[in-house]
Amino acid sequence: MTHPLMEYLPPVQQQTMHGAGKYSGAVAAGYDAKRSGDPKWTVEQTIIESWLDQMPDGSTVLDAPMGTGRFVDAYARNKFRVYGLDRQPDMLAQAEAKVKQHPGMEALFRVGDVRETGLADKSVDATLNIRITRWLTPAECQQMMREMQRVARSAIIWTARVANHSHARSRELFEQALEGWTITRDVAGYTMDYRIMCAEPV
Ligand SMILES: C[S@@+](CC[C@H](N)C(=O)[O-])C[C@H]1O[C@@H](n2cnc3c(N)ncnc32)[C@H](O)[C@@H]1O
Repeated sequence: MTHPLMEYLPPVQQQTMHGAGKYSGAVAAGYDAKRSGDPKWTVEQTIIESWLDQMPDGSTVLDAPMGTGRFVDAYARNKFRVYGLDRQPDMLAQAEAKVKQHPGMEALFRVGDVRETGLADKSVDATLNIRITRWLTPAECQQMMREMQRVARSAIIWTARVANHSHARSRELFEQALEGWTITRDVAGYTMDYRIMCAEPV
């Protein structure tokens, strides 16, 4: 990956092929094809894209983890400027390929961690944290929420399974980490227990 917009931090040391470390090589290459027909994916895609379309043109967003860049088309049509962060370079390579389909789109990629993004305080309008909470402990989910409040000015959008699963992370867990922000949207994804949420400053 030698795209001029790519910026690198030292790669994380743990590169296991299971758990959250599995998203490299063939898993990254086949990520979209394996998921894009699922109701979980399509419902999530529809709701989040509709929220993105309601944001002002030219907004700056942090997508963390960006994964393969599933929202790149929405970012492009809304003329968003994008920071894409993920701990797996192979996932970001897929996202970069999508960005290249939109000449002129402003995107900066970084290999890094959602709990410590390296961005300046209040440097983006909105953040997206999609399909990450199950890979973080409850305490790490709260750490991520605090980091998003630090870097975001207007909105934090995230997904979480909130009940009836070993990796469930409750709405209350996230609320406890909010300070001067409140949950303004909380809608069902493909099941009642899988939520798509948005927090905004009070
Ligand atoms: C299920 S994918 C979700 C990607 C994308 N948001 C989506 O909805 O398709 C999970 C992603 O989280 C990344 N990841 C896991 N732990 C991370 C962390 N602590 N910081 C940054 N990225 C992480 C993985 O590399 C993987 O790309």
